[in-house]
Amino acid sequence: MTHPVFVPLLFALGLAAAGAHAGPAQLQDSMAQRLVACTVCHGKEGRAAPDGFYPRIAGKPAVYLLNQLQNFRDGRRAYGPMVTLVAPLPDDYLQAIAQHFAALDLPYASPPPVRDAPALLQRGQQLALQGDRDKQLPACSACHGAALTGVQPATPGLLGLPRDYLVAQLGAWVTGQRRAHAPDCMAQLAQRLTGSDIAAVSAWLASQPVPSPSTAVPAKSEAAPMRCGSVP
Ligand code: HEC
Ligand code: HEC
Repeated sequence: MTHPVFVPLLFALGLAAAGAHAGPAQLQDSMAQRLVACTVCHGKEGRAAPDGFYPRIAGKPAVYLLNQLQNFRDGRRAYGPMVTLVAPLPDDYLQAIAQHFAALDLPYASPPPVRDAPALLQRGQQLALQGDRDKQLPACSACHGAALTGVQPATPGLLGLPRDYLVAQLGAWVTGQRRAHAPDCMAQLAQRLTGSDIAAVSAWLASQPVPSPSTAVPAKSEAAPMRCGSVP
């Protein structure tokens, strides 16, 4: 059964069951209008809400967004409300949604004030930009781009995300709650991070201002340090 809260959202998305009283359908005709439903949680225009957990979706690479929508639909990510929303949607509709949000180019807010110990931030910066050879950890920037703004078409940027969201995602990869297409490079990497490394890299990433331009850079010709099944 659909949770009552989602009925209006599903109507807004044009997903009401066939035969239901759909109301004035013409009012919901544009994709932008339909996707207002998503901004209840993801913030105005998909810019991320400030409460620390809802991720920004605006301006992320289109194939990355499509992969995530399919991951919720097909059981590789587990957040219940997202699963309910995308469960009935076919691939071409998910692709249209992904393209809509990928095309938005919106400014980011400044990062929240830093309150962490310098040693923690230093470790976070080291992991993000240099990696840790002893732990077989390549730098995050080797795949997420030198400026960490993402790489087309399927690797997201890591800046402008709430710290709690980052911690939760890395933890979910450790426990298997979040999965990507195999080989799941992020799952392998997350297993090599200690709890305090996850705290450090999340704190440092969340403390960085988002550079301008903030968009994902074109794919590089040199090979990534590990294979990732989500990258075509
Ligand atoms: C009830 C609140 C809610 C609504 C409504 C909602 N989302 Fe989400 N969404 C979330 C949360 C929370 C997450 C992070 C879940 C997790 O931890 O994996 C998320 C994750 C996502 C992600 C993955 C982001 C990333 O960077 O990996 C995408 C894409 C997304 N949502 C798109 C949408 C779209 C499109 C809609 C409208 C059809 C929508 N969401 C509606 C709460 C919501
Ligand atoms: C070998 C390449 C590679 C390396 C190195 C790498 N990542 Fe990733 N990362 C990816 C790919 C590919 C994805 C997209 C996975 C998916 O489709 O779910 C991703 C996704 C993520 C996400 C999800 C973002 C979101 O919006 O939900 C986070 C968080 C993340 N990586 C953090 C890190 C951190 C922190 C490091 C460094 C410690 C790192 N990654 C190193 C390839 C990499």
